[in-house]
Amino acid sequence: MGLLTGKTALITGAARGIGKAIAIKFASEGANIAFTDLVIDENGKATEAEISALGVKCKGYASNAADFAQSEEVVKQVKEEFGSVDILVNNAGITKDGLMLRMSEAQWDAVIGVNLKSAFNFIHACVPVMMRQRNGSIINMASVVGVHGNAGQANYAASKAGMIALAKSVAQEMGPKGVRANAIAPGFIDTAMTQQLSEEIRKEWTSKIPLRRGGTTGDIANTALYLASDLSSYVSGQVIQVDGGMNM
Ligand code: NAI
Repeated sequence: MGLLTGKTALITGAARGIGKAIAIKFASEGANIAFTDLVIDENGKATEAEISALGVKCKGYASNAADFAQSEEVVKQVKEEFGSVDILVNNAGITKDGLMLRMSEAQWDAVIGVNLKSAFNFIHACVPVMMRQRNGSIINMASVVGVHGNAGQANYAASKAGMIALAKSVAQEMGPKGVRANAIAPGFIDTAMTQQLSEEIRKEWTSKIPLRRGGTTGDIANTALYLASDLSSYVSGQVIQVDGGMNM
């Protein structure tokens, strides 16, 4: 028996990176996996195959998480094809960095849409199911910059702070119905998103981390497993920083 045997997890933006690592970790603990990404191309199909090989049901859905109607449709299909949604991980996210003076309206809208509105879209569609079954775990993938802010990332930091407040509000509303909601605030994690940063910035970040290394996608997946499973059955409305001690 795995920690998540018999559960269905829905993870957004999971064709690669942190989302994919979470999907694999959950599947290795027995969960069936529904995941989304903008497109399910060769990469997404490979993720689907890798997870199915762990002996669970897995399907990737092409959808834009920022789009309300598309998100509702995905949740409807997952309910039909998997029978329930027990765990929701709002992981899809993008950056469009820039200093405030130079930040365009398009940069702001895109980041708030993909990071924050997507979480509303999926939570809104999933809570009726979770309330009915009187059980559910919602995990919002925030960021340490959503707690502390970051120059050059006003849009991203605001979206992540929003995801934290969203998790806390949902935890208060849905707790009496047996639904928990929490946020993970990763620090500097080695993925395609951080590979965009210059070597200089990467070195500077690492020098400020007490554990003196960037995190791995596995570090985040382990925390997500804790929050998804009954190991955290009395934990709700929390934000867990997984950052090697960078922010205390
Ligand atoms: P990534 O860029 O490797 O993966 C993000 C995934 O989301 C991609 O597969 C992408 O196609 C998908 N995606 C983008 N827009 C989408 C949309 N509109 N609808 C559906 N899917 C969409 O990024 P990574 O590093 O794996 O990040 C995952 C989450 O973790 C993000 O929310 C990110 O903000 C957060 N995070 C990452 C950190 C890092 O250091 N890598 C640090 C803190 C938070």
